[in-house]
This record gives sequence, C-alpha cells and structure tokens, in this order.
Amino acid sequence: MHLTNICMRTIAGVFAAGYLSLSAGAAFAQSGDMDAGEAVYAKRCLQCHGEDGDGLGPAAERLNPPPRDFTLGMYKYKTTGFDDDIPNDADLTRMIRDGMPGTAMPGWGDMLSEQDIADVLAYIKYFAEIEDAPEIQVDYGTQVTSSPESIAAGKALFEEGDRCTECHGLEGKGSAIKKLKDDNGDRTWPRNLTKPWTFRASNDPKDIFTRISVGIPTTQMPSFADPNSKSSVSVEDRWNIANYVASLAKTDLVVNPENFVIQGGRVDGALPTSPDDEAWATAPPSTFIMVPQIVGEDRFFTPANDTISVRALYDDNSVAIHVEWDDRTKSIPGDDKAASIADEELFEDSVAIQFPRDIPEGMEKPYFLMGDGTNPVNLWRWNSGTTDAPQTGTVFDAMGINDQQARADNGELSVSSSYRDGTWRVVMTRALTTVLPETDLQFEEGRFVPISFFAWDGSNSEAGTAHTMTTWYWLQLKPAASSKPIVYGVLAALLSLLVLIWWGRGAAARAKREA
Ligand code: HEC
Ligand code: HEC
Repeated sequence: MHLTNICMRTIAGVFAAGYLSLSAGAAFAQSGDMDAGEAVYAKRCLQCHGEDGDGLGPAAERLNPPPRDFTLGMYKYKTTGFDDDIPNDADLTRMIRDGMPGTAMPGWGDMLSEQDIADVLAYIKYFAEIEDAPEIQVDYGTQVTSSPESIAAGKALFEEGDRCTECHGLEGKGSAIKKLKDDNGDRTWPRNLTKPWTFRASNDPKDIFTRISVGIPTTQMPSFADPNSKSSVSVEDRWNIANYVASLAKTDLVVNPENFVIQGGRVDGALPTSPDDEAWATAPPSTFIMVPQIVGEDRFFTPANDTISVRALYDDNSVAIHVEWDDRTKSIPGDDKAASIADEELFEDSVAIQFPRDIPEGMEKPYFLMGDGTNPVNLWRWNSGTTDAPQTGTVFDAMGINDQQARADNGELSVSSSYRDGTWRVVMTRALTTVLPETDLQFEEGRFVPISFFAWDGSNSEAGTAHTMTTWYWLQLKPAASSKPIVYGVLAALLSLLVLIWWGRGAAARAKREA
C-alpha cells in the first residue's frame, strides 16, 4: 500500500504546494482514548512504526527517512522551543492528518476522524510515556512581512559565515558537499529549498521561521534561536531569512498538469550545443513528475529527485533536446570528493530520453518501461563519465527493461552537459532523419511524438533498474508558420490529458481539502 503512497505523495505534493495553510492541524482539542487508539494504530500505523512503536514495522525496511521510533519521544516538526523536547499535541496532529511530503508518512485526514486521530495520538505518546505538557513555546515576536528589503537581508544572513549555505548550498538546492547522518546514523539530505512541495511542513514563512528557530531535532538541521550557537540570529532576522527561503520556490520550472506537450521551437541560425547557451531561453520549458521505478524487478523506493524540465529546438537538419534536473551531487566515479559523499557505491549520473521506434498511427504507445516485443523504443542515454573516461551519449535499442542493446558509437548522437550548484543541464542532438528508418525514429515537423525520461543519481546508489522515470508525454516540432490542424496528434494529446487527470485525481482532492 505504501508503494502507491510514495508515488501519489510526490504528485500530491506538487498539487498541494502553495495550498498548505498554517491553520492546518491547529484546531483539534479532543483528548484521546488510548484503548481506542491502540486499535487504530494496529490497523493503520503498525506496518511502518512497528508493534512496539520502535519504527521497525514490516514495511519499514527500505524507507528513507525511516518511520519514527516513538519510544524515543523525539519529534521533528514541533512548535515548542528548541530547548523543550515535548511537542504540542497540535504539532503531531498536523503531521498525522496532513502527512509528511517527501517521505512515506501518509496523511490520514481522509481516512481517520478527528477522534480517531486524537486516540491514536494518545497511544503513540504512551510509547515514550509522554505525560507532561510542554513548557516552552517558539517566540514568534512580530512577523516581518515579506518585501524586497527583507528578502535581501535574509539572503545575506543565509550566506553570512556559511550559515545555511554550509548544508543547503548557494542556491538552496542542498548541494553543499557534505555527508550528513542523523542521530540514529541514517543518511539525511538537506532539503532542496527551491522545491516547496518536498517540505514536510510547508514553505509558508511562519513554518520556515519555526524550523529555523527550533531546528529539526535528531537531524543536523540546527536551531538558530539557541543563544549558545555562534550562528544564532535575532527574531527579526529569522523572519528575514524565512522570507528569503520562501522566495526561493521555483516558479518557472514547476509541474503544470495541463502541460503534456513539449513545444520544440524552430531556429534559423545554428542550434545551440551548450546547455548554458542563451538561445534556450527562447524555448518554453515543460516540467514533469519523476517517480521511482517500482514496476520492474529490483524495485526502487528511495529516489533523490522528483522532477525534470525539458526544452527542444530544431532546424532543417537536427533536433536538440535540453533536459535539466536537480541533483545535489555531481557523481564522477573515481573522484575522491564524490566518493566521500556517495551513499554506498558511486555510479555515474545519467539521463535517458525515450522515443518509440516508429511514431504510432493511433493511440498505442510502447510499454512505458523501455518498450516491449512489438513496440521497440530508442533510448538516447547520457552518462556523466568517470575520472578515467569522458561523458558519453549512447543510443540503445530496447524491447523491455531487460532487453536493451547499446549501439556502437557512430557519432549519431552528440551530447554536452554542465553541472552547477545542484543542477545538471544536458543537451542531446540528433539528425531529424537517419539512414536507418527501420531502427531509428524519424522526426517530422508538426507531428506529435511520444517522449519520456529516465534519470539516475549515481551518489544515491541509482544504477540499472534503480532509477526515476516519467510517464509518456509528447514532443511537437512546431512548424514556424502553419496552422494546419493535426487531428491525430491533438486527439492523442487529449487522451493523454485524461489519463493524467485520472492519475492526479487523488492528489487534486487532497489539494482541494487543504486549500
Ligand atoms: C507507510 C509507512 C507509514 C505509515 C503507515 C505511518 N507512518 Fe508515520 N511516519 C512514517 C515515516 C517514514 C515517518 C518519518 C518521516 C521523517 O522522519 O521525516 C513518520 C513519522 C511520523 C510521525 C512523526 C512526526 C514528527 O514531527 O516527527 C508521527 C507522529 C507519525 N508518523 C504518526 C503516524 C500515525 C499515527 C500513523 C497511523 C495512523 C502512521 N504514522 C502511519 C511512515 C509511516
Ligand atoms: C548542518 C547542516 C544544516 C544547516 C547549517 C542548515 N540546515 Fe536546514 N536542513 C538540514 C537538513 C539535514 C534538513 C533535513 C532534515 C530531515 O528532514 O532529515 C534540513 C531541512 C531544512 C528545511 C525543511 C523544513 C521542512 O518543512 O521540510 C528548511 C526550511 C531549512 N532546512 C532551512 C534552513 C535555513 C534557513 C538554514 C540557515 C538559517 C539552515 N536550514 C541551515 C541541514 C542544515
């Protein structure tokens, strides 16, 4: 059950980003009944949090972060002071009701009544025999309203003395080169602050202020209200930092569920070969959700990335596709620094673009996971290279996840890449038509071509079938000035929209409830 949850949560997060409100979770005041709570727990929580509340339930094994061990009585997202371990009931109620985006912890608001939640809360507090009420609350002082001045002041404080950049990196993407472990020895990654849908609480300035003030107990995320810390800052400055962090939220590279067609623009001059070429600004980006591969064998549950952004340009001869995704680590096997932060084994970073071998006449598309026997696919795959070997661009012919043939490099695919502050950008270029129409997709101006993506983060042990991927979308090389309707393509695109709506249905319901 938690498998679907992971996927749906990623999507839910995207839909819900921006809708989370602070009042969420603060309203309950019922006192819970422990016996009733035990029954709720056995049915809904035990599978992850364990019979004894120690976080060792049968489904817990591969989850990162792991389910909370309730016997320790330590909680991460609380609004009590940094020097008070006991959370407010409202803090835990909020996490139980809304869930924790970016983790396997589901939101139970749809499934459990307010009374059920109060009951189960009483039960989980009992594992650590929490009976006392908290004494110290976060001091919010007077909230500083967001303004360009406040954001600028916050940015300076974020970088001053490496206060936040030490872990979150210069652009807030969590790309600082450090291997972090929490108090239990489990790997933690600093949050990518440009992706608010991955925040466990929300990116409302008040929630960010709370995190900066309290820290995230049991992880390296420290308290900046603690007067004993040399990085601590005043209440006013914590508001400035919170306003800056809230301003980091991506605006141009966010998933728009109505956008399922990459519009390839026609260029007159030469196609840009560098991913940092300014010409890419003329191509509108499309951002898609990536989910971990959980269908084929060796399923994968702990992805490091959840979106990919794509642009395309073409000229008379070739098409160039620009893909961009956040990756905290530049993974170059053989590099000592990369190895020191890698999970266990260090693999190359990699991305692949998937096309059907033939543009389908109707609605049928190859199996999304690297094709099937009757519908083969072309994969254009880029690998980041090692200290001994440069990056590569390889074409694969595939008829399924276990049937991929790499072609010898005949120069048909050219690749270039750049890595900066937690983001990879890669361009892959190929001729529109080739001499091998029986094995290669042939591009035609105006036609809708199915396209999808795979990515591997080598520092997160992603290799082989452990990767993230998107569903099928469409690429259209937009004719410069023709409005001839392309009925098939439009129909197919509409159908695809219906599928997406169906896919995101649960998520949308959640977003609505929270709005
Ligand atoms: C599919 C697995 C799963 C299930 C089922 C589940 N949880 Fe969790 N829960 C998690 C994970 C994983 C975390 C840790 C997230 C983190 O550390 O960021 C967590 C964390 C929590 C926290 C800690 C919040 C904090 O601020 O530290 C509470 C409380 C909690 N769960 C309560 C519950 C309750 C109550 C239920 C049943 C109604 C439940 N969970 C069911 C996976 C699960
Ligand atoms: C020593 C490393 C470190 C420093 C310094 C640090 N952080 Fe973090 N931060 C983390 C880690 C690790 C997490 C994720 C914890 C987890 O969930 O496992 C995190 C999470 C967060 C979150 C996520 C909150 C949520 O709801 O999910 C925010 C916001 C944040 N940090 C802001 C900041 C700001 C602002 C600063 C500077 C004032 C800062 N951090 C300094 C390590 C750090």
